[in-house]
Amino acid sequence: MARSIVALNRALRRLRRGGKIALVPTMGALHKGHVALIRQARRRAPRVIVSLFVNPAQFGPNEDFASYPRAFERDLAVLASLEVDLVWAPTVEVMYPRGFATSLVPAGAATAGLEDKFRPQFFAGVATVVAKLFTQCRPDIAVFGEKDFQQLKVVTRMARDLDLPVRVIGVPTVREPDGLALSSRNVRLSREERAVAPALHRVLADCAQKISSGAPIATVMAQGRQALGQAGFAVDYLEARHAETLMPVASAADGPIRLLVAARLGTTRLIDNLGV
Ligand code: PAJ
Repeated sequence: MARSIVALNRALRRLRRGGKIALVPTMGALHKGHVALIRQARRRAPRVIVSLFVNPAQFGPNEDFASYPRAFERDLAVLASLEVDLVWAPTVEVMYPRGFATSLVPAGAATAGLEDKFRPQFFAGVATVVAKLFTQCRPDIAVFGEKDFQQLKVVTRMARDLDLPVRVIGVPTVREPDGLALSSRNVRLSREERAVAPALHRVLADCAQKISSGAPIATVMAQGRQALGQAGFAVDYLEARHAETLMPVASAADGPIRLLVAARLGTTRLIDNLGV
């Protein structure tokens, strides 16, 4: 494990002799979704780095940075069992030393009016930390989950715009048997909320099926929002967007279409998405 830039650079010199490097950025509290990313990284490169860093810059003042699930020792055990070549776990002081004053301001997919509308600071925080992780680790490949679909688009574009020589790869969402997308925040759901939570994926699947059978998008999405409300969710958004640009689509002919949702159960906010 490396926790300082000096230790990271020393480890990287050794790692590079082993061939291409794949990086899997995470905020820890690892679950099977993260494990799928790490396995994909393994298939793509002989050397795998996993970063563990709960990034304060992507949390808003009223969000859950302080209470974000942390399981550092357990994460290290999981990563050891997966034979990850290096764990990069910088402290906040290493990532953002005193006087730190430079941030990225992503546009395009980052201003699509989805997560950005509800978490205005989020993508600047993500783009900045991921750019730093890329320049720190200089990976050939970086693996991200489709679970955070808008984030995947933002990071892919950021790497391209900054000419970072890294190939960004997306991995399909890993789900519980009942359809709920795995998330570090799922542990927060009460037993009752956990029983309701799979409705998020069910409604997405239902909307996708209706749109592909030719039903008008606006009607389908309105019905989807209503179904989520009835199930007990407070809906932040449920939208049909172009799968690449994340811009609004009027009809299935404007596709490929991705459905994206964010909704709250009590104090827990869940996001998910599905291709049509
Ligand atoms: P975190 O939420 O820990 O997620 C790390 C990676 O795991 C992301 O690429 C995310 O999309 C992926 N992931 C999470 N749940 C998944 C699931 N059920 N199936 C497949 N992949 C899943 O996303 C972040 O951290 C941060 O924003 C980060 C990119 C590390 C920057 O701080």
